[in-house]
Amino acid sequence: MKLLSASSNRTLAQAIADHLDTPLAQGEFKRFKDNEIFVEIQENVRGEDVFVIQSTSYPANDHLMELLIGIDALRRASARRITAVIPYYGYGRQDRKVGGRTPITAKLVANMIVTAGADRVLTLELHAGQIQGFFDIPTDNLFSTPVLERDIRHKHKNVSDLMIISPDVGGVVRARALANRLGADLAIVDKRRPKAGVSEVMNIIGDVEGRHCIMIDDIVDSGGTLCNAADALLEEKAASVSAYITHGVLSNGAVKRIQASSLTELVVTDSIDPDTRKDKGGTKIRAISIAQLMGEAIKRIANEESVSSLFE
Ligand code: R5P
Repeated sequence: MKLLSASSNRTLAQAIADHLDTPLAQGEFKRFKDNEIFVEIQENVRGEDVFVIQSTSYPANDHLMELLIGIDALRRASARRITAVIPYYGYGRQDRKVGGRTPITAKLVANMIVTAGADRVLTLELHAGQIQGFFDIPTDNLFSTPVLERDIRHKHKNVSDLMIISPDVGGVVRARALANRLGADLAIVDKRRPKAGVSEVMNIIGDVEGRHCIMIDDIVDSGGTLCNAADALLEEKAASVSAYITHGVLSNGAVKRIQASSLTELVVTDSIDPDTRKDKGGTKIRAISIAQLMGEAIKRIANEESVSSLFE
């Protein structure tokens, strides 16, 4: 097995490599003067099972092109099998036509990755599970639930005081999975999006009075969903509100918004490198690592073992 890191999240790639006790393969991802991307794999990969690690996070277009060009280089270097390891699958939110004459980028990007030459995909918390079907190659979609659960149990000794919250109806399955693992109750925020980037809370479904609420979601981008939901939960007399979100996109003034919000804490994973995102810093924001989970999945894929048993 060989591990190759493109440039979006070298810290995570190194942590995965450390977990697997396997050095990262030598490879360069460079820019020409006109910003075109050039990739050179600097060691033999002929006949190898190669895992190329790249989140297609900000700047999404550059990182996507790096991934595609990296896969092309590996294919032309006769790698036996190429797995695109994409901890954060950018463009995933456009997974259906939202109106007439609009694209489905989650499918377009899947086509591009397959056409470039990937044999498999390993990803984490896709915006919608059915995006797996957009790839006509085997795709493993990991859940961050065990990583989030471990941290929540560590921080909250009394889980019976907790209320797990889905900040929108679309995230209920994800939030319920975590609530079940914790043995905690579940409440739902009925959110409306009058236009892209704007969210409004309509109702809270469930009694949150006196409960320590933990919101669970796949993505925090502008932070609008979380901050509005936190205010609405506190209005309903919740004792406190924090959030565990897998992908900290955090763009468009999100860090400032979170800092000024009524949220006690926002926990994100390192699927997106906190140092490369557009909005940095934030004392209320803490990152936990998915390196062990991703590393374990890579090991199991390489050894042709079950990946789903990681979540049993
Ligand atoms: C939407 O369906 C997603 O699950 C997130 O709730 C959304 O992307 C969060 O966006 P924002 O932080 O900009 O409200």
